[in-house]
Amino acid sequence: MSAPKKLFVKTYGCQMNVYDSERMVGALGTAGYEQVQDPAEADMILLNTCHIREKAAEKVYSELGRMRPLKDAKPDLKIGVAGCVAQAEGAEIMRRQPMVDLVVGPQAYHRLPAMEAKVQAGETALDTDFPEEDKFDHLPAPRGPKASRAPTAFLTVQEGCDKFCAFCVVPYTRGAEVSRPGARLLAEARDLVERGVADITLLGQNVNGYHGAGIDGDWTLARLIRELAKIDGLERIRYTTSHPNDMTDDLIDAHGEVEKLMPYLHLPVQSGSDAVLAGMNRRHTAEEYLRLIERIRAARPDIAMSGDFIVGFPGETEADFADTIALCEEVRYASAFSFKYSARPGTPAAGRTFVGDDVASERLGRLQALITDHQRSFQRAQVGKRMSLLVEKAGREPGQMIGKTPWLHAAHFDGPQTTQGNVVEVEIIGSNTNSLSARAI
Ligand code: 5AD
Ligand code: SF4
Repeated sequence: MSAPKKLFVKTYGCQMNVYDSERMVGALGTAGYEQVQDPAEADMILLNTCHIREKAAEKVYSELGRMRPLKDAKPDLKIGVAGCVAQAEGAEIMRRQPMVDLVVGPQAYHRLPAMEAKVQAGETALDTDFPEEDKFDHLPAPRGPKASRAPTAFLTVQEGCDKFCAFCVVPYTRGAEVSRPGARLLAEARDLVERGVADITLLGQNVNGYHGAGIDGDWTLARLIRELAKIDGLERIRYTTSHPNDMTDDLIDAHGEVEKLMPYLHLPVQSGSDAVLAGMNRRHTAEEYLRLIERIRAARPDIAMSGDFIVGFPGETEADFADTIALCEEVRYASAFSFKYSARPGTPAAGRTFVGDDVASERLGRLQALITDHQRSFQRAQVGKRMSLLVEKAGREPGQMIGKTPWLHAAHFDGPQTTQGNVVEVEIIGSNTNSLSARAI
């Protein structure tokens, strides 16, 4: 057998891209590639890209520019672009960067081996189809030493989005909502647990809209979570990202009843202003969102909320922004991401008038200061509590291990290497800038 060819993959954007990258490594593994960490060694470089905001796509073009010398030094080097920029830009990428050999959209990854053969023959390959078949049926499960060591993993259960928020490119780049069958997800989860995974995050662009074929009729996300919770050795279940309008009663109940479902929920609201929410086509009011969070907190009082905000959406006035601040004050997010609005070509809001970069930057600064303040006080409030830690790896100091709390804080404690991959009980004794200190009980 010939020596394996070397593949370097760089991943941008969301967790789904991280999951997809692993699957692409698997697919190209069948075509004789092994993954390397240094692009200079590679025979093929694959950029798995994100199109969600302007800078994300621009970063890809500058990264391609920086790869020029690698291609000059090794003319056989193949360069591929995958992900949402590939889907959105298609052949335009090859026009802007002629050294790109391969462009593949998110729904066509199972066709990578055939595309690779084509580029090896000196042609270019472009595939941005939305094929009928489920790509995951044709992609090998991620394998290898890295996956077998990490106690946490992602599992894509749903892809695409039918919500069509006015700012968002996802319905165009990832396509319509498709849910994967329950039986297959259970099998994949069991396989992950056998390889040492104890914490699984279920992924979907609109994950709580999950409605997959179950073993006995259609399954909701709540039902899928209840089935997954029966797997011995699986200790923690999380899911992301959710739309408020798909937070059904059975899912809220699951938060109260399924112990393995972690008390942490990413539930973006984007804005606290009803006028802006309407302009965004979010289809709910600020008040409805707040009442929803009340119901979730009634079911699971210790739940931590996380969210996303867009500031400077077209038409956003100072009064609208004040509503966002007020909503943020009321929810007190444990963590939240906020972004300046960026017009995405082809989306309904793209033609509307932006509030201007100065206004948006100034508002973003104010919102982020508030969020940081809440985030810090939530972290400090952990001190003195007892909780479980899923131990992920050794810490920087000798004899130190690092784990994650149910609320996704990193915490370090003195303990043996043998705790790696296990759940240990600790008391939180200190709060530092980016982590907690803990003591094993
Ligand atoms: N501009 C700014 N932020 C955006 N997001 C999505 N689209 C845009 C856009 N056009 C943000 C939303 C979403 C997160 C993943 O990215 O807050 O929840
Ligand atoms: Fe980026 Fe959204 Fe695509 Fe994920 S789905 S890569 S966040 S554009």
